[in-house]
Amino acid sequence: MNRPYVIIVSEVTLDGKLTLYRGASSKELMSIMTKEVYKYLHSIRAQVDGIMVGCETVRTDDPSLTVRYVEGKNPVRIIPCSTANVPYHANIFSKDAKTIIVTTERAPKERVEKIKELGAEVIYAGEELVDFNKLLPMLYERGIKKLMVEGGASINWEFVRLGFVDELRIIHLPVVIGGENVPTLVGGEGFKSLKKLMQFQIVNHFVIDNFLITEWKTIKT
Ligand SMILES: NC(=O)c1ccc[n+]([C@@H]2O[C@H](COP(=O)([O-])OP(=O)(O)OC[C@H]3O[C@@H](n4cnc5c(N)ncnc54)[C@H](OP(=O)(O)O)[C@@H]3O)[C@@H](O)[C@H]2O)c1
Repeated sequence: MNRPYVIIVSEVTLDGKLTLYRGASSKELMSIMTKEVYKYLHSIRAQVDGIMVGCETVRTDDPSLTVRYVEGKNPVRIIPCSTANVPYHANIFSKDAKTIIVTTERAPKERVEKIKELGAEVIYAGEELVDFNKLLPMLYERGIKKLMVEGGASINWEFVRLGFVDELRIIHLPVVIGGENVPTLVGGEGFKSLKKLMQFQIVNHFVIDNFLITEWKTIKT
């Protein structure tokens, strides 16, 4: 399959959590990151053609997904959203970058029209949920050769489940939150079998202001 090279990038606590509690915006947790750590994150954004977060992350975090802490071009923002249920005032509709909302036939036409009026492109891939088997070749055709996936847990699982991950870069937040129901790096069903696990080789690690950064490549089996 012709698909973009996929890098999952995430800020994760020492106990693997993505946010303070289920339903909380991760912006609060990320506020502990220093400017230098943000520069690392934004330098990756500046090197990719596209950046993706799940629709739930748009609804809870309202991220801008632009390059701000370093010089560089904004990647195309890509949001899988099966019923096009995105708040119309969301920051992803700012004019700073192109935005693609990926939806399904379940999306009400009025929402699709409104999103187009806001200047975003709408593409269809899948019936129930967005189908990444269909979407990734479409993105590749549109010039998205390198894609950064910034979560959340459900979207990360889709990429892991389908084996569409080439790299994983983790900013380890030096805190522990606890809580059984707090989303972790990867959600979904889980593999439940040692034979099926996605495996990684560490390629780089360094520390920025007490934040360990680890960079991993997928071991293709
Ligand atoms: N620390 C970090 O680096 C980081 C980064 C990002 C997010 N977060 C946190 O993660 C949490 C959100 O994660 P989340 O797992 O709830 O949501 P998510 O992964 O951001 O988005 C999931 C949503 O995407 C849509 N979707 C469309 N096609 C899909 C598919 N094939 N598979 C799965 N989802 C599909 C669905 O919404 P529709 O039903 O509307 O289609 C689904 O509910 C928030 O608390 C956020 O703060 C943390």
